[in-house]
Amino acid sequence: MALVVICGQPCSGKSTAATCLAEALRASESKATVRVIDETFFHLDRNQSYANMIAEKNVRGVLRSEVDRSVSKDNIIIVDSLNSIKGYRYELWCLARAAGVRYCVLHCDVKDTDCRKWNEDRKDKGEAGYDEIIFEDLVRRFEKPDSKNRWDSPLFELQPSKDEIEKSSPAILDAVSYLTKTVDSKTRDVKILQPTIATQSVRPSNANSLYELDQATQEVMNAIIAAQSNSLNGPVLIGSGLPTLNIRSAVGYPELRRLRRTFIKLTSQTSLSGPPPPADAESAKRMFVDYLNRELGD
Ligand SMILES: *[C@@H]1O[C@H](CO)[C@@H](O)[C@H](O)[C@H]1NC(C)=O
Repeated sequence: MALVVICGQPCSGKSTAATCLAEALRASESKATVRVIDETFFHLDRNQSYANMIAEKNVRGVLRSEVDRSVSKDNIIIVDSLNSIKGYRYELWCLARAAGVRYCVLHCDVKDTDCRKWNEDRKDKGEAGYDEIIFEDLVRRFEKPDSKNRWDSPLFELQPSKDEIEKSSPAILDAVSYLTKTVDSKTRDVKILQPTIATQSVRPSNANSLYELDQATQEVMNAIIAAQSNSLNGPVLIGSGLPTLNIRSAVGYPELRRLRRTFIKLTSQTSLSGPPPPADAESAKRMFVDYLNRELGD
């Protein structure tokens, strides 16, 4: 039914916001199941998770897979993590679109000085805080959401520096109303994302990332064809760090080629007004495998 991305600096009140929103949603008329996906679910420790780029990528990867697995027409998934990278929020938005659900971002907008203080308070109290170097690095790299971006919209903003976060905070109530509103053909203010293929042509200036996309998807194709020619049925391992392809039976080359063309079209079009589609070859492959799983998986 919906995907909610919580976003904010470290120690800005995101988990409180996620809890308040979840409770408010559960108390609403909506029949949807509400679930919060956060780092503690994976027993991730704050310092370890953000110690370096690889660890951080890994955290984003596991959260994204869990969102991908969970998001559906019957539930409301709240992702409670920093979600501070623009390109990452874009990927989450793509998952919502692929699932055909509504989407919004809830931002805890605090002053740096406040979250810095709250991190220190936490450590003083013996609760899990961030190491100072990690904390400063996260604060510096934070990419503030901007409601002009499709993947940051609609944007609901909490101001924890000014007001305590509560179930009755205006931003929470607005989000609840957006997420639970009944939608009919006349509704204009609620957007349910649609997994459609647009008809515009590919942005030509983006030759580089198109080339990468082409290469990356070809490599995935090669891996599938190689696995199939060894007459292996069932899950196909594409490469380390990539999701497994779960298909029940072998897929013919023409079918794969067709899916690849569609995927390239879809991915390159989403970049018309957005960030470059997949950030690198690695995420291009991952998105392609995810796409194949959705198209061919059972
Ligand atoms: C992270 O490291 C800092 C010190 O560098 C420590 O005070 C804090 O408790 C650690 N946090 C966790 C969750 O282990």
